[in-house]
Amino acid sequence: MKRKKLLIIGTGLAACQLARYLFMDYQITMITKGKLTHGNSVKAQGGVACVVETNDHLDSHIHDTLIAGGFHNDVEQVQKLIAGAQSVINDLIDSGFSFDRSGRRYHLGKEGAHQYRRILHAGGDQTGRRLIKHYHHLLKGHVTIIENQTVIDLMTVAGRCVGVRTVNQKLKRQEYIADVVVLATGGYAGIFENHSNHPLLMGDGIALGYRAGANVKDLEFIQFHPTLASIKGRPFLISEAVRGEGAVLVNGQGERLLDNYPLKDLSSRDVVSQALYQVQLNGEEIYLDITPVKQFDQRFPQISGLLKRHALDLSQGLIPVQPGAHFTMGGLQVDANHETAVNGLFAVGEVAATGVHGANRLASNSLLEALVFGKDLAEVLKGRKPIEKPQKIICEPVNPLTQTRSLSIAALKRYNERYLGVIRYEKELLHYQKILNQYPMTKQASIYHPEKSLDDYQSEQLLLVSHLVLSAALSRRNSLGAHQIRRQEAEQAVKG
Ligand code: SIN
Repeated sequence: MKRKKLLIIGTGLAACQLARYLFMDYQITMITKGKLTHGNSVKAQGGVACVVETNDHLDSHIHDTLIAGGFHNDVEQVQKLIAGAQSVINDLIDSGFSFDRSGRRYHLGKEGAHQYRRILHAGGDQTGRRLIKHYHHLLKGHVTIIENQTVIDLMTVAGRCVGVRTVNQKLKRQEYIADVVVLATGGYAGIFENHSNHPLLMGDGIALGYRAGANVKDLEFIQFHPTLASIKGRPFLISEAVRGEGAVLVNGQGERLLDNYPLKDLSSRDVVSQALYQVQLNGEEIYLDITPVKQFDQRFPQISGLLKRHALDLSQGLIPVQPGAHFTMGGLQVDANHETAVNGLFAVGEVAATGVHGANRLASNSLLEALVFGKDLAEVLKGRKPIEKPQKIICEPVNPLTQTRSLSIAALKRYNERYLGVIRYEKELLHYQKILNQYPMTKQASIYHPEKSLDDYQSEQLLLVSHLVLSAALSRRNSLGAHQIRRQEAEQAVKG
């Protein structure tokens, strides 16, 4: 029997997990706009949150997830996530993956807002890299991988998604038809200047899905990680697990900055980043003091290697850090089966807004989300009937180039950094709205034009995502979790 065709846009952990459980049932093509090894999953340092020890409990993990999320979470999704954790971890171990051990037990990391040590990790701080390598090994020979293809449109016929249009690096257009299309394109933290994500990730999946008719949700909730270091002008994540092993945040005088908070340096990420933002407003420098961490080099080989390679002076044990965009809780709204409002179009991983993370994600629940929901979507799709093929896929006519007008990628990132950061000021958001309104959103069926460059496509997608995030930030009038809005004062933002 001819196998159904599945197109997965993205090659991160959620995409790989989905493919791993489906390659017997579907003929799978995975498309990435960069190289297979690009993306965010590979950069993940902390690990995977999972209840392992007998003194810990699933209810406690659920509770921590809800508290960190400001109770904005979809409780059923949270229960599904946490209940599915042990099974995906066991599957991974059965397939030959190793998490770090301390003697006969797993070595469990601690991160912000977790009541217990429950972060499984691999190679110290190289969990993402090792996981992706493992999946590449599992998928080799079973799926077709297409690199350097930018998806510019989703193709729909009678309200159903039937494929995607891409351009390659030489701007040659290509169409891929499938029974099912899954967006696993990651989040949109890369719409900022200062962020921890892979530079190629700017929320393309949100723009593609929205233009095809999917709904978006919770886009105002953007998580700023408290500890990004800057190496040669490029931000680099210093894992929260470093604070879990005893590191503390201090100012230039060595005074601790989080001492007055109940969970101190291991408060939830939104709380720590907001506290640090105030410190920045006062013009003070922020350092992560790693002197309390035992065997830093062995526990965090990736971070310590990078710091050493770039000759960062660690003689005092102080790493200069600042908050930066890291993870996005919002995305394409999906139902319990991970399907968007567009028939046949699914979303999984960071691009999807399942509601599981609420207003602020709990540390190390993102790799877990990719693993649990990737497997769950595979189960949904296994039972799905093939579509009746549309007689003919009609390609939309080429749109005139003048139909779209955008800002450059650099300008949009600068604006987003300036206006949509850790603390938002209503007056400034309204000012930004005036700026963006000069560049209206494009929602036409196809944005292809033979004279466009890859940057043109990218800046149009980025413009649309910026519009959507700004409008979401303006619509939520009260602060919650990672969305902090000040309605009265229009203080100058830190990087103003
Ligand atoms: C970190 O290691 O601090 C990041 C992990 C995460 O985003 O959960």
